[in-house]
Amino acid sequence: EKGGWDSFMNKEIHEQPQAVADTLLGRFNLDGDLNLDEVRIDEEVFRSIDKIIVIACGTAAYAGMVAKYAIEHWVRIPVEVELAHEFRYRDPILNSRTLVIAISQSGETMDTLMALRHAREQGSRVLAICNTQGSTIPRESDAVLYTHAGPEIAVASTKAFVAQIIAAYLIGLYLAQVKGAMYRDEIRDIVDDLRAMPAKIQRVLDTQAEAVESAAQAMVDAQSFLFLGRHVGYPVAMEGALKLKEIAYTFTEGFAAGELKHGPIALVDSGEPVVVIVPPARGRNVLHSKVLSAIEEVRARGAYTIAVAEEGDEDVREYADIVFWRPQCPTLMSPLVDVIPLQLLAMDMAKLKGLDIDKPRNLAKSVTVE
Ligand code: BG6
Repeated sequence: EKGGWDSFMNKEIHEQPQAVADTLLGRFNLDGDLNLDEVRIDEEVFRSIDKIIVIACGTAAYAGMVAKYAIEHWVRIPVEVELAHEFRYRDPILNSRTLVIAISQSGETMDTLMALRHAREQGSRVLAICNTQGSTIPRESDAVLYTHAGPEIAVASTKAFVAQIIAAYLIGLYLAQVKGAMYRDEIRDIVDDLRAMPAKIQRVLDTQAEAVESAAQAMVDAQSFLFLGRHVGYPVAMEGALKLKEIAYTFTEGFAAGELKHGPIALVDSGEPVVVIVPPARGRNVLHSKVLSAIEEVRARGAYTIAVAEEGDEDVREYADIVFWRPQCPTLMSPLVDVIPLQLLAMDMAKLKGLDIDKPRNLAKSVTVE
């Protein structure tokens, strides 16, 4: 069933263009507007929503964090992202105008299930984003938007992550549509951007594998890895760090690049690998130069710097020991491509260490205990 791949993870990483395309499929009506009738929440209810809380664990929570940047920007309502196991025990503020989005690949994560039950008891509507038809979380939610990533077997989540981002973006755009928060054309332009992503992911898969492999070879013996990013690059950094700890058992930390000077830079010593997600340089993006100076800072202290940067971003070359190139795309789309080399890096490192890629020690695909 691995279809010729050496691991399920490798297969699933390569299925990501399809996972994105399939999750977009069938969610529009003939004149191109978003149609989420399948969700079966009244448009009126969507219109009344004034706050979103995402509850999830692990990779699904990072997908939620990515979506927070997009949805707040598009819909102009606050989005909180809460680890499901922390949520219920802090007396969260919920009411009927709060939309709770529960994200779960398996649909069986007990922490997420308990959190959504709590939210419903408080009178909030819960919309699940889930990859598994008929699983518990969608059954216990008010509604569900399925990701169509196909079965994910490897414990480390890959294609579910990109599909979750797509599903959450569709919910955000739908809210913008029903609330009139954006012009129709603006929404369509973003949908076009989304539709362009499968080909861009494919391009990363086709062109970046060698660079990733050489970074893995250079750094396989490193005791620890740091990942940093800003804006949507921040959750991507944390997801990259999570992949590496899950399957290569490397001690990793992902953090916001702006936080570097407030502590983490003390960790940087000669030979320390630091992976930096560099935002697009176009559109006078102020964050671009700020992230570049973060690379400069760590490099000055002897770090081995790995950058994920946009094709054509020549400035990056002089700062980075190695660059994983991302095809040009809007900032909010960049997580869908930036995560790919980080997944490959974790896989290559695990392979070089001779570890079981699909079944890392101490982990289960879905954790059905609290
Ligand atoms: C963890 C898995 O236990 O659960 C992660 O190892 C996953 O890969 C997390 O991201 C959440 O799982 P789910 O099924 O709720 O998305």
